[in-house]
Amino acid sequence: MQEYLLEFEQVYYTYPGAQESALNGLTLRIPSSKKCALIGQNGCGKTTLFLLANGLYKPNSGVVRWRGEPLSYNRNYLGKLRQKVGLVFQDPEQQLVASTVEEDISYGLCNLGLPDSEIKDRVEQALVEFELTALAERPVHHLSLGQKKRVSIADVMVLKPELLILDEPTAYLDIRHTRNLITTLKKIHQTGTTLLMATHD
Ligand SMILES: Nc1ncnc2c1ncn2[C@@H]1O[C@H](COP(=O)(O)OP(=O)(O)OP(=O)(O)O)[C@@H](O)[C@H]1O
Ligand SMILES: [Mg+2]
Repeated sequence: MQEYLLEFEQVYYTYPGAQESALNGLTLRIPSSKKCALIGQNGCGKTTLFLLANGLYKPNSGVVRWRGEPLSYNRNYLGKLRQKVGLVFQDPEQQLVASTVEEDISYGLCNLGLPDSEIKDRVEQALVEFELTALAERPVHHLSLGQKKRVSIADVMVLKPELLILDEPTAYLDIRHTRNLITTLKKIHQTGTTLLMATHD
């Protein structure tokens, strides 16, 4: 039997004050261990779907399920859900939290309560993977948009979520970093991570 990580069933969502619904009875399933792409024109609701997937928004009606269980919307549950469902925002500015690149990548890991040695290893590996080693001490607000985007992807990937959601991950990246990202995503998919990606590319 096919196992589904994430399911949307007849999900409706309208932004507060908006005239029209952003999601209009959406039903979809994300199978475990697959790579899925979400394709659609500007404004069709891709980002909205993602914000519902990790419980940042709550459907007006319909249900979102994680591993067959409807999401709860209390802090405790959502904290745990977000360790399993990692979301890389479309806009890297929304993702970055700490002062330097290295601190930013360690931030989520420190909240997971992992041993210091494990945190250090994962951060170092991410800095190498995303060619950020030379920028490790730089304040994140001094980075270019493409560099910020790489930090924001590293931030989420180091947490090793079960489902990694990337909203336009190649936006702002040049060709070389786009290729590097694709290689990195292939690797983490091979280790069993399910990928869901919105892309115009
Ligand atoms: N904060 C908001 N308040 C009101 N309406 C919003 C808000 N964010 C998005 N919308 C509207 O909801 C709809 C879906 O937007 P969404 O951002 O999910 O689209 P998208 O598919 O991610 O587009 P893009 O390809 O441009 O990233 C659009 O009509 C948009 O105008
Ligand atoms: Mg979007």
